[in-house]
This record gives sequence, C-alpha cells and structure tokens, in this order.
Amino acid sequence: MRHVVLELFTLYVFINAVRSLDNGLALKPTMGWLHWERFMCNIDCNTDPNNCISENLYMQMADVMVSAGWKEVGYEYVCIDDCWPSHQRDDKGRLQADPKRFPRGIKKLADYVHSKGLKLGIYADLGTETCGGFPGSLGYYDIDAQTFADWGVDLLKFDGCYMKLTLLGEGYTNMSIALNKTGRGIVYSCEWPLYEWPLHQPDYSAIRKACNHWRNSEDVFDSWNSVKTILEWTADHQDIIVPVAGPGGWNDPDMLVIGNFGLSHDQQESQMALWAIMAAPLLMSNDLRDICPRSKELLQNKRIIAINQDPIGKQGYRTAKVNNFEVWEKPLSGGRLALAVMNKYEIGGPRGFPVTLATLPSWKICTPQCNVTQVLPSYKELGVQTLFTKLIVAINPSGTALLTVTPIKGDNNIQWQLWNDRSNKNSHKSVL
Ligand SMILES: *[C@@H]1O[C@H](CO)[C@@H](O)[C@H](O)[C@H]1NC(C)=O
Ligand SMILES: *[C@@H]1O[C@H](CO)[C@@H](O)[C@H](O)[C@H]1NC(C)=O
Ligand SMILES: *[C@@H]1O[C@H](CO)[C@@H](O)[C@H](O)[C@H]1NC(C)=O
Repeated sequence: MRHVVLELFTLYVFINAVRSLDNGLALKPTMGWLHWERFMCNIDCNTDPNNCISENLYMQMADVMVSAGWKEVGYEYVCIDDCWPSHQRDDKGRLQADPKRFPRGIKKLADYVHSKGLKLGIYADLGTETCGGFPGSLGYYDIDAQTFADWGVDLLKFDGCYMKLTLLGEGYTNMSIALNKTGRGIVYSCEWPLYEWPLHQPDYSAIRKACNHWRNSEDVFDSWNSVKTILEWTADHQDIIVPVAGPGGWNDPDMLVIGNFGLSHDQQESQMALWAIMAAPLLMSNDLRDICPRSKELLQNKRIIAINQDPIGKQGYRTAKVNNFEVWEKPLSGGRLALAVMNKYEIGGPRGFPVTLATLPSWKICTPQCNVTQVLPSYKELGVQTLFTKLIVAINPSGTALLTVTPIKGDNNIQWQLWNDRSNKNSHKSVL
C-alpha cells in the first residue's frame, strides 16, 4: 500500500508540468448525455421512429434534460454519436446530416438545444470512414472543423476507426489545431490512446495538450462485466494515466449505463461512485424519457456529482485490494478525501468493511481527527473519528460504499499546517 502511495505521489509532482489543451474548456469533467450505448446505430426510423438516430431523439432528450432536473444538477451536453451523416458530402466537400432523419439540419438542432440552455455534441472520425461506415474526416479536418463551428457545435467526439495507427497522433493533433483555428470553443473528445495502446504506450502529455478528454479502454457495454473490466484496466494503468488528468483534460472510461437493463441497483451505485472517484466525464447513455426513479435519483445525487466535479480536479485511484474489497481514494479540495469501498465478492449478503482511518494511505489528513460522511449506499453522518476508531460499513455484493473524509484541525492548528505543508512537497518518504 505504501509503495503505491509513494509511486503516485512522485508522479503527481509531474502533473503540474503537463500542460492541458488551451481552449478554456472542460475545467471540470464534462457532464451530459451521449446516444451510443443505448441507441447505437439505429437508423430505421420507419419501424422504430421513437428510438432511431434522428433530430427528434436529441430534441426530446434536450426537453427532458431541462424539465426533469438534469440540467439543474449539471448535465449540459446533448451528444450525437455515429450514424448521423448522409453517406455523401455536399458539393463543397462538407459533411451533411442524413436528410430524412435530420430534415432541418444540424444547425437548427444546435439552435434548439441552445435555446434550452444546453450544448450540442457531434461525432466524426479521424480516418477514411466512421466505425459505422459513414464518411470519415481524413483529408477534411479543416473543412469539418469549420462546418461544426458554423453549425454551432460545442463538442466533438473524434473516433479513430479506419486510420493508419502510425498517423494517429498526427491526425488527432491536426484536428485539434483545426478546431482551434475556427475560433469556436469546442470540447475535443479523443480516442487516441485507445487506438494507440496496441501499438505502444501513448504519449499522454501530447494527448493532454491536444484533447479535453480521451478514451483509454474498450467501449462500455450494458453489463457489470464490462464496468468491472474498465475499472480493472484503469487501476492496472493508474500510475501512467492518473497523473495526467486535471482541469482541461480527463481520462474517459466511457459512458454511464445507469438506468438501462444490465446493472443491478448496487452495480449502478458502483459505477456512479467509481466514475466520480475517477474524475470521469459523466456522459449518460440511457433513455431519459423513461428511466426508473431510483436510477434517476442516483444520477442526480448532488453529493456524488460534487465529488466528480471537485475544483482541484484530481483523479482518484485504487489504493488497496483486500479480502475481495477494493479501496479507491480521490483527493478533494480543502484537504478532504473521497473514499470508495467496493465489495467485489459476487456471492452471499452484505459484508462489513472496517474503515480505520489510520490504515488509509492518506491517514495524515486525519491528524488529529476527521469528520466522516457516508454518501452511498445511503446518506449517513458518521461523525467525528480519530485515527484509531474503527467504523464498519456494510456493502452489498458488487456494491460500493462512498464516503467523504474531512479533516478537523482541532486545537492542533500548527501541527496540522505542518503536515499539510509537507504533503504539498514531495516529503512522504520521510513521513512514512
Ligand atoms: C487557440 O489556441 C490559443 C493558443 O493556445 C488559445 O489562446 C486560444 O484560446 C485557442 N482558441 C480556441 C478557440 O480554442
Ligand atoms: C497533419 O498536418 C501536417 C501539416 O499540415 C501534414 O503534413 C500532415 O500530412 C497531416 N497529417 C494528417 C494525418 O492529417
Ligand atoms: C460533519 O459533517 C456533517 C455533514 O456535512 C455536518 O453536518 C456536521 O456538522 C459535521 N461535524 C463537524 C463536527 O464538523
């Protein structure tokens, strides 16, 4: 455990040296809705008019996002994924929306979404074709960037299908420059590392300079197995990817699938808690027009959202694996900490996990005391704890307990200040 802390801390010093994309956007993880996992490439509007990829789908989502409280808690971007364009570019070489499914065009859709106080995201691809076989942007980066800017698009998800792997970096960087040249602020969501990993370890400082967030691992599916695989990948690579995350640039573990078919309620809580800990973009892919009230309440939980959106923008990481529990921690502003404990045992009933502050890697913040609040599975003020009191939290199979830990300085102000100063320098070694 100590070894992990030391290693991460050394890398953390490196974070501040990595410049982010200078477009002033995504200073907190992006929040919104993205069509892919739930609606995929459903273009059959004759037999499935309610769920096909058409302007109606995004207009209805925008309506619900405002009327059902989503916008109020921070969900802002309504994002189109693949399968929106026509198979032909227009006579000026520009992409155009499928005329049957988007009869009024993307500009009108953007106007509509903006009139609701929301933002519009769109999708394109670095290579010769999108993953779904629609026109790719290779050779058209400037034209496509300008088209999106002219339409009033606010976010671009740029996929990497049908592209030479050795040209990924060049292509993603060129599109970043093309977006900048339009003069419009457009959040730039990349899949550069996802496609580059099979070739070699990606250059994350180059990625952070070009992109606002980036997908590292495979697409999320509507299953616990998929969510677990993404978490495992993230923890396995945390010493490489955690230090580069911060305001302006985030690791993207893909969409929230909460409110669909594949996750139990405990598993939905685990996804929400861990996506908050990972400072992940919160892009829901579900049907907001018809969502179970418990899933809605979870996705709109302001305390969890606040952990995700914390202004210091530090990504959390796995600090311990013990007895089929995983412990993840995320540093928060004000010297606070968020703590997630996941019960990985998929058999039996709730199991108690003993939280002793002294065993947390960041235990020093609790000198002399901490105030502990449980956010999930239910809200509970657990009160002031010293380093050695033992709290037992009960966690269901494949569920997660999410806690916040707030230092209480007590009379020992000077002592605490000393710890705090030390922790801001690279002096953990002498402390531990
Ligand atoms: C373009 O890049 C410059 C220099 O990095 C930056 O100052 C400017 O804000 C960027 N503009 C946009 C629209 O991203
Ligand atoms: C990127 O831009 C450079 C300079 O304009 C150009 O030489 C190169 O071919 C471009 N690469 C890609 C993949 O677009
Ligand atoms: C502990 O936190 C809870 C929840 O934020 C708060 O209501 C309570 O006053 C805090 N207690 C102390 C001693 O700070």
